[in-house]
Amino acid sequence: MKGNSIGKKFVITCFGESHGRCVGAVVDGCPAGLKLSEKDIQKELNKRIPPKSEIVSARREKDIVEILSGTFNGFTTGAPICALVWNKEVIPSEYDLIKDKPRPGHADYPARIKYGSFNDYRGGGRFSGRITVAFIMAGAVDKKLLSLFGVEVLAYAIEIGKVKLHATPTLEEIRRNTYKTAVRCPNLESAKEMEETILKAKKEGDSVGGIVECTASNVPIGVGEPLFDSLDADIAKMLFDVPAVKGVEFGAGFKAARLKGSENNDPYAICAGKIVTLTNNAGGILGGLSSGMPILVRVAIKPTPSISKKQKTVDLSKMEETVIQVKGRHDPCIVPKAVPVIQSAVAIVLTDHMLRAGIIPKVLRRQK
Ligand SMILES: Cc1cc2nc3c(=O)[nH]c(=O)nc-3n(C[C@H](O)[C@H](O)[C@H](O)COP(=O)(O)O)c2cc1C
Repeated sequence: MKGNSIGKKFVITCFGESHGRCVGAVVDGCPAGLKLSEKDIQKELNKRIPPKSEIVSARREKDIVEILSGTFNGFTTGAPICALVWNKEVIPSEYDLIKDKPRPGHADYPARIKYGSFNDYRGGGRFSGRITVAFIMAGAVDKKLLSLFGVEVLAYAIEIGKVKLHATPTLEEIRRNTYKTAVRCPNLESAKEMEETILKAKKEGDSVGGIVECTASNVPIGVGEPLFDSLDADIAKMLFDVPAVKGVEFGAGFKAARLKGSENNDPYAICAGKIVTLTNNAGGILGGLSSGMPILVRVAIKPTPSISKKQKTVDLSKMEETVIQVKGRHDPCIVPKAVPVIQSAVAIVLTDHMLRAGIIPKVLRRQK
């Protein structure tokens, strides 16, 4: 199974399976001199699970991170950083059912055909959403690193089921409210409705999807390497590597196809001596380069495939049609857990590109 690493100068390698011993990340290329402790990573990991909420699975996954390498006296050394969490809440028998009966919408069937009986199907194995714990661990390193250069990446839910965010949130609302709500939405009223939608789907043995928006502010102009390593292309690739992501759009996105040039172009202006655009339909990227405006990307997440409603499938051992009712501890909506994953994914790509552009040096100045 190849394809476990991403990045050119800041290379992330993810390892582990849902029901294996651990899930972890190796971060290779982090500059020396970044103040980093397990606390920094733990803080981000804790964002995966809202406290006491019915909208996430019974698998509480209180993951405790261990940094195995790459730091000394509280600072990164420039050597690969290996961070992992041990899988503790493992109940493989929950997955006996899917051994020969692939879940519709999950990776079970193509993985079984490709890897045969070697495929670790328990909990989806390598195809489980749990592997994104590694994205968050790597993303925690990026968050600290990017903040030294003034870059802030924030993700939040804007749509769940048919409930949309009522009003465009300010940066302040996003910072203050997102993690106050179980659904990770910065508008408290919309968050309540979203939560109800998830609970209704759960009661029906079903699931719902949604949309996560992510902004990155203060990205210097010119980040990105056209042609084939354009910033938008690399961000989109990374986002499509997050399981359950089915669509990615920047700025006006698909709406741009229905606008006239005069409506879609972002006119330039000077504001406090700085060149800005009056709108941001480009989503902060032009020609594959950051434009200086906030990067704005939206990600469509499909409804959780594992649902307890009856669905048609096949029994591969008998080669006959059958019905499946998926058991196990599944989230009726992936969006809340995906929010910190999307944020990490965007931060990982930005860090790689800022290192490639020489904006982030290989050795940092000592921080307090
Ligand atoms: C954070 C996160 C949590 C997920 N949790 C579940 C889950 O509980 N049950 C499930 O069936 N799928 C879950 N998924 C989605 C599956 O991993 C994904 O749908 C599957 O691997 C097939 O890949 P695809 O949807 O990208 O085609 C989760 C995904 C993410 C990102």
